[in-house]
Amino acid sequence: MSLFRSRFVQAVLIVALAFVVLRFGIRPPAPWSVIKIYMTVVFLAVLIYVSADADSWRSFVGPIRSTLVDPSRRLVRAALAIVLPILLGYYAYTQAAATPEAPAELRAVHPAPPGSIQFRGKEINISGVENPLRRDQASFKKHAAAGGETYIKNCVYCHGDNLDGHGQFAPALSPPPADFQDPGTIAMLQEAYLFWRIAKGGPGLPRESTPWNSAMPAWEDRLTEEQIWQVIMYLYDATGQQPRRWETAH
Ligand code: HEC
Repeated sequence: MSLFRSRFVQAVLIVALAFVVLRFGIRPPAPWSVIKIYMTVVFLAVLIYVSADADSWRSFVGPIRSTLVDPSRRLVRAALAIVLPILLGYYAYTQAAATPEAPAELRAVHPAPPGSIQFRGKEINISGVENPLRRDQASFKKHAAAGGETYIKNCVYCHGDNLDGHGQFAPALSPPPADFQDPGTIAMLQEAYLFWRIAKGGPGLPRESTPWNSAMPAWEDRLTEEQIWQVIMYLYDATGQQPRRWETAH
């Protein structure tokens, strides 16, 4: 077994064995950074071991040297000259190749509303406005019922007959239609905010909340101001949610 007496073979075996043990032999698996540190230590220790005396060092560098210069090793040399660059090239490729990952999308779900909007040529103040239909408590049921009709005609396809965002079109939409039963949607919004969102829809969302692919239509050309306030009343009435109110000054 003169092969194993060669310092070079010993060194290669020790380094390879240490790597296999570190990479596969420990539970839980060590992270790469730790493996790299340990491998550096093992490598230095092996270098010290093979260079401990002149004979040992000669036995270590002998095979390296003969591979580099001996005419009899020409084939090995040629093989190394092909294989090593390929391995290095492959390593560089794995480091540089882009991984197929979706770009991060930071979506502002409830962006700040504009101070006021133009609704059919009329200016409507979004900050501070109350639902005007709520002043007339007597006709509440009438307005909510009319809002329900508007909802069934226009909104149910996306927002669902349970108002939970599971309409027929919903599976095809991303972002999904708002779930009005969820306490994170209309329950934490003011009615004026809903007015803005319903009137201007996805196209009316501010630039800072791009990339927006919202399918929410803008309703200002199809619904009147009163119809929008009615459908808002219906949304709160049907879900049992309460709109957020403007803080009143005391
Ligand atoms: C084509 C599908 C579609 C239809 C029809 C539709 N919506 Fe939407 N709606 C969406 C989607 C998608 C969102 C979520 C993305 C967004 O906020 O723009 C949304 C969001 C909303 C929001 C915002 C909720 C929040 O938490 O910010 C309101 C309010 C709303 N819709 C009301 C309505 C009303 C009222 C109607 C009917 C008049 C309607 N929608 C019809 C797709 C639709």
